[in-house]
Amino acid sequence: MTCYVVVGGFFGDEGKGKVISYLALKDKPSVVARGGCGTNAGHTVEYGGRRFKLRQIPSGFVYEGARVLIGAGVLVDPNVFLKEVEEAGVKGRVGVDYNCAIIEPRHIEQDRGSRHLSGKIGSTGTGCGPCNAERAMRTVRLARDVDELKEYLTDVSLELNEAVDRGENAIIEGTQGTFLSLYHGTYPYVTSKDTTASQACADVGIGPTKVDEVLVVFKAYVTRVGGGPLPGELSEEEAERRGWLEVATVTGRKRRAAPFNFELARRAVRLNGATQVAITKLDVVYPECQGATSFEELPRKAVEFVEEVESQLRRPVTIIGTGADANSVIDRREEI
Ligand code: IMP
Ligand code: MG
Repeated sequence: MTCYVVVGGFFGDEGKGKVISYLALKDKPSVVARGGCGTNAGHTVEYGGRRFKLRQIPSGFVYEGARVLIGAGVLVDPNVFLKEVEEAGVKGRVGVDYNCAIIEPRHIEQDRGSRHLSGKIGSTGTGCGPCNAERAMRTVRLARDVDELKEYLTDVSLELNEAVDRGENAIIEGTQGTFLSLYHGTYPYVTSKDTTASQACADVGIGPTKVDEVLVVFKAYVTRVGGGPLPGELSEEEAERRGWLEVATVTGRKRRAAPFNFELARRAVRLNGATQVAITKLDVVYPECQGATSFEELPRKAVEFVEEVESQLRRPVTIIGTGADANSVIDRREEI
C-alpha cells in the first residue's frame, strides 16, 4: 500500500505520462488522481499499440481497475474533458471534483489575445492563466454549476483519502514541471500556479502525512516550450542532430532543448521532497538502451550517467524509461 505523488523536475514534458502509466499497470492503484494546472498540460500515453494524447484525464487511466479522478485544484474545460472521456473510454469510472474551476471560451480568447501571455510568456493559449486569475477574483464558475458535468461530480479528496486509509495504492499526478512553478520557477516565464509535489497534494485534497513516496521525473535531457531561460540551450540544428528536437503535445510548437542539468535537478529534489527519481528517454541519449527492462542490459555510458545522477541528487533512480511504450521501463524499486 503506497501513496505516490509524481511530478516533473524540469520544465514539463519530462515523460510523466509514461512513468505514471507504467506505475498504474504495475501497482494497480484503486485511485489515480490528477492535480496540476489544467488543459495546458499534455500527456502522451502509449499503451497496447495505441497512443493517447490527454490534457485532462489522468495518465493512470490505463489500469482499468482504477477510479480516475480530477482534483479540485485542476481547471476543467468541459469540451476537452468530455471528448477525452470518450477517447480514453473511462465513462463510469471517471470523476471531477465539485470545486474544479471551469475554463470558458472567453478565457481562451483572453489567453490567445494577450500580447503578454501568448506573446512574451509563450502561454499554451488554453485559457488557464485567465481562468486561474478569475478564480483568485472569486468570479469563476465551478464544475458543480455545469449541467454537462453533473454525472461525473464527486468529492475527490474524500474518495482519495478513503482509499489511502483502507490501505490501497494511489497515484497523485502533477503536471508541468518544477521550474514552471509560479512560486519557485523562472518567473514571469511560468504557469499560473505552483507545480511542486505539495501543490499536487493540495490540488487533490490530501495532506502531506498521507504521502509515502514523492517520485520526481527527469528526462535524460531538458526541454522547454515558450519563453524564459534555459541554461545550456542548444541550437535547433544541434538539438535535431542529437534527436532531442520534440514537438509539443498541446500547441505543436518545437521544444527548445539542453543537456541534463544537475543543478536544476538538485533544486527540484529539494523543492519537491523527492524520495525517488525517475529518468525518462534514456534511449534517446543512449540508443543501445532502447526497450531495456533490466539495469544489466544498459551500456556502460548509460550506467555511469544514472550513477552520476544518484550521487549528485542523493536519491535512488528507481524508474528508467527506455522507450515509448508504458512497459519499456527498468523498475529498480525492489532493489532499494
Ligand atoms: P500557460 O500555462 O499556458 O499559461 O503557459 C505558461 C508557460 O508554461 C509557457 O511557457 C508554456 O509553454 C508553459 N507550459 C504550460 N503548461 C505546460 C506543459 O504542460 N508542458 C510544458 N510547458 C508548459
Ligand atoms: Mg506535456
